[in-house]
Amino acid sequence: MNSPRTIVENNGAVVILDQTRLPQETAFVPLKTLADAAHAIRVMQVRGAPLIGATAAYGVALGLAEGLALEVILKTLAATRPTAVNLNWALERMARVLQESAQAADANERRALAWQEARAIAREDEAANAAIGQHGLTLLAEIASRKGRVEVMTHCNAGWLATVAHGTALAPIYAAQVAGLAVHVWVSETRPRNQGLLTAWELGQAGVPHTFMVDNAAGLLMMQGRVDCVIVGADRIAANGDTANKIGTYLKALAAKAHGVPFYVAAPLSTIDFACPDGTHIPIEERAAAEVGVGSMAFANPAFDVTPANLIAGIITERGIVSADQLASVKP
Ligand code: MRU
Repeated sequence: MNSPRTIVENNGAVVILDQTRLPQETAFVPLKTLADAAHAIRVMQVRGAPLIGATAAYGVALGLAEGLALEVILKTLAATRPTAVNLNWALERMARVLQESAQAADANERRALAWQEARAIAREDEAANAAIGQHGLTLLAEIASRKGRVEVMTHCNAGWLATVAHGTALAPIYAAQVAGLAVHVWVSETRPRNQGLLTAWELGQAGVPHTFMVDNAAGLLMMQGRVDCVIVGADRIAANGDTANKIGTYLKALAAKAHGVPFYVAAPLSTIDFACPDGTHIPIEERAAAEVGVGSMAFANPAFDVTPANLIAGIITERGIVSADQLASVKP
């Protein structure tokens, strides 16, 4: 199954789709330097945990091509956004490969190695998400076989825009469409950044039936029996299955539990932080007042929340669907 790609290489630069201009405008932006890559992550020209990781990996390659020291590059990229663990995962992987080659390789070889590893990270994300789609499809197919159609609710944007390709939460939906299932998606607005508009744009481009809704409508729709399952993405999954995702995810999980609606998290293994014991250790990004639209009054704008593992029916990974207490079984 083909998917559009969010990040591609072009003549020693990296080209991204600028998500701050979507859905009004489809604009591609070249990243030529480490500063470009760090800026793109910070201002959310690229966003979504897997895509942040891939962009950071390419940022390392761009920084080395400028002749910058690896320590400076890693520090600059690590400081961009705190919650999505894919960022640290990608930086650690790049650092490991480059440090291992430090004795044997000269500067040019190390630069080539950085491009090669960033490319591998991007390709692996694409493959992992395609596999997530196939595993998640089994859940949707089971519902469709009972009900004739499937109503899925999602939150934020965890589609191809948030990854290198395919998406995570939306991958099973695209797979269901290819399989000919009658699928409809409830797309949550996702205040304050409105990533739901990105999801609606993606689904619209692919011809997947969907309905845009305000965040606060989720509980009512579930109470009315209009939602068969919820599938969301993740920014960091702790070893015990507690899951950080876009603010508002937790409320959907609570409503889903109250109404017997299965709540699934779809994420590649690069989003699981096995070194993080539980959700209380996940750093939560606080963002600016301007996003909430307030001036001088006191405000809170946490960008993510943590859904406890006991509210999650299953975690859909590239290695299959596991319950939170089975996470260790998919550890690489
Ligand atoms: O602040 P964002 O837009 O980067 O947050 C994105 C999310 O919370 C996504 O749901 C998550 O990264 C999963 S993306 C496949």
